Amino acid sequence: MPDFSPAADRNKQPILTMLRQVLPDAGNALEIASGTGQHAAWFAAGLPRWTWQPTDLQHTALDSIAGWVAQHGVANVLPPLRLDVTAPRWLPDDARFDSIVCANMLHIAPWATCAALMQGSARHLATNGLLITYGPYLEDGVVTSEGNRTFNQSLRAQDADWGLRRREDVEVEAARAGLQLAARHAMPSNNLLLVWSRAL
Ligand SMILES: C[S@@+](CC[C@H](N)C(=O)[O-])C[C@H]1O[C@@H](n2cnc3c(N)ncnc32)[C@H](O)[C@@H]1O
Repeated sequence: MPDFSPAADRNKQPILTMLRQVLPDAGNALEIASGTGQHAAWFAAGLPRWTWQPTDLQHTALDSIAGWVAQHGVANVLPPLRLDVTAPRWLPDDARFDSIVCANMLHIAPWATCAALMQGSARHLATNGLLITYGPYLEDGVVTSEGNRTFNQSLRAQDADWGLRRREDVEVEAARAGLQLAARHAMPSNNLLLVWSRAL
């Protein structure tokens, strides 16, 4: 049985709806930190002209991803790969993607993963490719919801290197990699879907 994340089950459709708005009709996507694989199976089914490459740090996740893909019977998903976002080399140097998608990793991983995500995306995005990040963020000038405040405290209690990231700090890492925030979409439950493109 593949693993099940209630949160992924809740947010998969709102994220897909937004992906359909911001991405072109067809392309290839690299998913970073695919987790259970519920997203990969759902997004690939909902974006039939896209080819989806799921990945995760953990070997155990790869079995779960393959399980969800088999359960959905989706043909446009490539076999999951182990990929550590902090590795200096993710894939062959010439690998290019029309989109790189990363949901709910930045707050459940050390801060260094943010710079690594941005640098790797800059290496592997096609010229007009888009990096999509999704999750809860802190933002200057925006009151943090009670739910996100409590979530942040519980993350930090679990691991001092975890915690909600300030969107403005993420923008600094993006700029260092030559990327810029192209769009900010408010999502259910005080999450954001952020779209990053190459800086002009
Ligand atoms: C909360 S889960 C999110 C999974 C899925 N994207 C979702 O939204 O349901 C966080 C994931 O980040 C992955 N992760 C943590 N550190 C990572 C790293 N350095 N490189 C790649 N993935 C990592 C974990 O293995 C885990 O699957």
